[in-house]
Amino acid sequence: MTTAIDWENLGFEYHKLPFRYISYYKNGKWDKGQLTEEATLHISESSPALHYGQQAFEGLKAYRTKDGSIQLFRPDRNAARLQATADRLLMPQVSTEQFIDAVKQVVKANENFVPPYGTGATLYLRPLLIGIGDIIGVKPAEEYIFTIFAMPVGNYFKGGLAPTNFIVSEEFDRAAPYGTGAAKVGGNYAGSLLPGKAAKSAGYSDVIYLDPATHTKIEEVGAANFFGITAENEFITPLSPSILPSITKYSLLQLAEERLGMTAIEDDVAVDELDKFVEAGACGTAAVISPIGGIQYKDKLHVFYSETEVGPVTRRLYDELVGIQFGDIEAPEGWIVKVD
Ligand SMILES: Cc1ncc(COP(=O)(O)O)c(C=O)c1O
Repeated sequence: MTTAIDWENLGFEYHKLPFRYISYYKNGKWDKGQLTEEATLHISESSPALHYGQQAFEGLKAYRTKDGSIQLFRPDRNAARLQATADRLLMPQVSTEQFIDAVKQVVKANENFVPPYGTGATLYLRPLLIGIGDIIGVKPAEEYIFTIFAMPVGNYFKGGLAPTNFIVSEEFDRAAPYGTGAAKVGGNYAGSLLPGKAAKSAGYSDVIYLDPATHTKIEEVGAANFFGITAENEFITPLSPSILPSITKYSLLQLAEERLGMTAIEDDVAVDELDKFVEAGACGTAAVISPIGGIQYKDKLHVFYSETEVGPVTRRLYDELVGIQFGDIEAPEGWIVKVD
C-alpha cells in the first residue's frame, strides 16, 4: 500500500488508520479481542465512562529502526500503569500479556503507517479502557471496552528540540493532593484544558502546575513530567503522589545515572528555587525531551540555558533516550520489545 504522508512534517494529530484492536469485558472476563476496521464505538448513553469519567488511557510509541524492523519502548510499563489506573477507578485490569499482544497486533496491521527511520516520526498508540453499559447511579460499570488505535505522529510541542517557554499556573491545579493525579484518567486532562488554552493563547507551550496543597513546588507540565539539571551534574525531577509516574522520566533517571554519570534525584522542586537549574525540560512519550527555554512565574520569566538553544546535558540525554528508542544505542535489559 502506498501512503502519501509527509513524515517529516507530521504534528501530533489524529489520523484514522485502517485497523484498531477491540476487546469486551462481560460476565467478569475479557474476550480474546480482535482487530477491526470500525473506528466508531457504539456504547450505551448511560455508560459510566461518559458520565462519571470511569475511563483510563495510555500512550506509547512504535519505532522504526535503521534495519527496517519495528520496536516498542517499555510497553510492560504502560501495561502496569494502566493496571494501576484501573485499580484506582475500580475497572478490571488488562493483563500485561493481552496489552502487549494487542499493541503488536495493531502495529503489524498498520505497518505501512510506521514512519520510516530517520524522519523522527513514530507510530503513536493510544490504548483506552472505558466503563460501558446501562448504569445511571454512581457505581462501577459491569462491562468494559479495551481498545487500541494508532496514528503516525511527529513533535508534540512545536519546537521539537528547540526550547519553548512554559508558564506556571497560579490559578488552577491539575489534580487534588490525594485525588487521581497519579492515574492516567481523562478527568485530569479535562481540567487542564482551560489553563492550557490560556497559556497557549499567551504564547507558551503549556502550563506548569504546582503542588495543589501548598502551591510552592513544581509538579509537572500539562502532558509531561518536569526535570532540571544543576551545575553540580544533578538530574532532578519532582517527587509527588499527584503527578503521573512518567515512564520517560524513570528511564531518564536511570540513564542520567548509569550512562551520563550524573546524580539522579527525585525530590521536591521549589518553584522559587529555579535559579539552581542550568537547564530544564519536559519529558514524556509524546513530548520525548522538550527543552524548556524559560518559565514564567508571577511577573518574571526565568530563563535556564537559553531561549533558543538546547543545553548540552539535555541534548546528551535526548540522544541517549532517542538512540535507544530507535535501536541505535543498546538498551538496558528488557526495555525494548520487537514487533515481529
Ligand atoms: C500529565 C502527564 N505527565 C507525564 C507524562 C509522561 O508520561 P510518559 O513518559 O509515561 O509518557 C504524560 C504523558 O503520558 C502526561 O500526560
